[in-house]
Amino acid sequence: MIPRQLEPEVMDTREEAADYNSMDHGDINRLFAEAVLELIATHQAKCSGSADANDLTVLDLGTGTALIPIELCRRNERLKIVATDLATEMLHVAEGNLQRVGLRDVVTLERADAKQLPCADHCFDGVISNSLIHHVPEPGSVFHEMVRVVKPEGFLFVRDLLRPDSSAELDRLVELYAGEANPHQRQMFHNSLHAALTLDEVQALLKACGLPPGTAQITSDRHWTVSVKVRPV
Ligand SMILES: C[S@@+](CC[C@H](N)C(=O)[O-])C[C@H]1O[C@@H](n2cnc3c(N)ncnc32)[C@H](O)[C@@H]1O
Repeated sequence: MIPRQLEPEVMDTREEAADYNSMDHGDINRLFAEAVLELIATHQAKCSGSADANDLTVLDLGTGTALIPIELCRRNERLKIVATDLATEMLHVAEGNLQRVGLRDVVTLERADAKQLPCADHCFDGVISNSLIHHVPEPGSVFHEMVRVVKPEGFLFVRDLLRPDSSAELDRLVELYAGEANPHQRQMFHNSLHAALTLDEVQALLKACGLPPGTAQITSDRHWTVSVKVRPV
């Protein structure tokens, strides 16, 4: 097993934000959105008849350029999203993306650190995050914050890259999925895979914050996913 090799936590230069925004995340984002929309549909059905059903608010941590909130809000008009990131430049690009598609009123952008969120306990129906965890040196605090801010009976949906077993496998994945990308994008993907967690590491973090480790699963040759419907204690 190759050791975890950290990469810089935030992506906060104008070039990084523009480069990230120009990469094709379409298929990955669609798959992520479809899984979250299923969780939302279950949640809305469960709350039908109550005020909660019509006013569902989801927190997206490490939103980047807000492409996932856009995909979600286009497909569910009853959804509001608070989209947070630590990088001002990413949020700047996100703002432009939201304006372009007319979703500035349903997605609220906030600069916030996912390790220490400036919000009250139990205030979101769901918390989602894609590709944030591998950026964070000690991601346990992010999982703790997710558990703290989600409502009882809300949901968590977290997906990230999976660290490969060997350098050869890492190189194979870079070739397979970023073979056509520019050198900077290939290097970013390489570094991200190297900074990612293994399934065992994710499961240990879940256990430490009282979540069932089995809710983390390997969901592709390069991803793990945590999908949890929180139960009231
Ligand atoms: C690889 S991007 C993923 C963006 C988006 N979720 C997506 O799937 O397209 C990771 C994002 O996490 C942000 N980030 C890193 N550490 C963070 C933290 N502690 N709190 C909030 N955002 C953070 C980075 O600035 C970056 O925008």
